Amino acid sequence: MSSDTAIRSGLPPELSGLVRSVSFKDGTATIIADATGLGKAAAAQLQRELEEAAGAVDGVAQVRVAMMADKVERQIIAVGSGKGGVGKSTLTANLAVALAATGRKVGVVDADIYGPSQAKLLGGEGVKLRATEKMLIPHDSAFGVRMVSMGQLIEPGKAIAWRGPMVGGALSQLMEADWGDTELLLVDLPPGTGDVQLTMLQKFRPAGAVIVSTPQDLALIDATRAIDLFNQANVPILGIVENMAGYLCPHCGEASHPFGQGGAENAAKDMGVPFLGRIPLALTIREQSDAGTPPAFADEKAGEPFRILAAQLVQQLERTR
Ligand SMILES: Nc1ncnc2c1ncn2[C@@H]1O[C@H](COP(=O)(O)OP(=O)(O)OP(=O)(O)O)[C@@H](O)[C@H]1O
Ligand SMILES: [Mg+2]
Repeated sequence: MSSDTAIRSGLPPELSGLVRSVSFKDGTATIIADATGLGKAAAAQLQRELEEAAGAVDGVAQVRVAMMADKVERQIIAVGSGKGGVGKSTLTANLAVALAATGRKVGVVDADIYGPSQAKLLGGEGVKLRATEKMLIPHDSAFGVRMVSMGQLIEPGKAIAWRGPMVGGALSQLMEADWGDTELLLVDLPPGTGDVQLTMLQKFRPAGAVIVSTPQDLALIDATRAIDLFNQANVPILGIVENMAGYLCPHCGEASHPFGQGGAENAAKDMGVPFLGRIPLALTIREQSDAGTPPAFADEKAGEPFRILAAQLVQQLERTR
């Protein structure tokens, strides 16, 4: 004679962990399973496996499986800058990798319509995105981070004159890709305060924004504009990151400061926003980034500043909750 507990213990552990409840009456086992974060195909497979495993338990004549899914709470983090070329994309990729290494489910949206670069940074260059009828399926990078990119929606090297509505449509396709159980979605924005930023703020409410700047004054003035935009939309500024801060000469080991020193930290203080940390200007960062192997993944030394940054970001995110 079977019972609820006998059925439960008759399931292999990888299945029983996903079972919320089991009841048994007149030969019929009713199982409620947790499909949170599973795509359609995976949920259907789980259902079949449960039916089969429970059906094999002594005394069970029929199995009914109900799948339930909690809505995954996904936080969008916008990475912006006032100026181009300050290292937003490099930082987004490495921050994502460092966050994923802490066990979080992380995705990257490359929303830079003028110069998409995440496919290159995350080692997915030339990868075509697959799609279901309704949704794009993000590319699973080798670094534990999923990603989609504007670069994968257009032909490589093809110039496009983007008009406002097109931008909104393309951004929505990327944001509404099949993100599954992704918890944190980092959005690599184009520089400045244009159409993509506005659509982002209007349609997809970010949990917070990270602003990247180099230390020199001019870059910081531009950063202030980016901050103002997020402030106006009531999106919390998680903090400023100072990139290319100090250059460590690979030959003599001497540190120099081609773009000045501490500018972003002071500016953050003046503006009353958190300072998240600094990333040095380092040849290895550029080389590994160009090669599609983010230093945050496996490089103990060059990856360290990104790991520190990831920890700071998580703290700030907790505070805005
Ligand atoms: N900390 C760093 N050390 C060395 N090189 C860096 C660093 N950060 C970024 N770079 C290099 O600087 C260049 C610009 O970086 P990146 O593409 O990330 O900037 P961006 O702000 O995304 O630019 P854009 O505004 O064009 O999108 C790249 O060649 C990158 O490898
Ligand atoms: Mg970029």
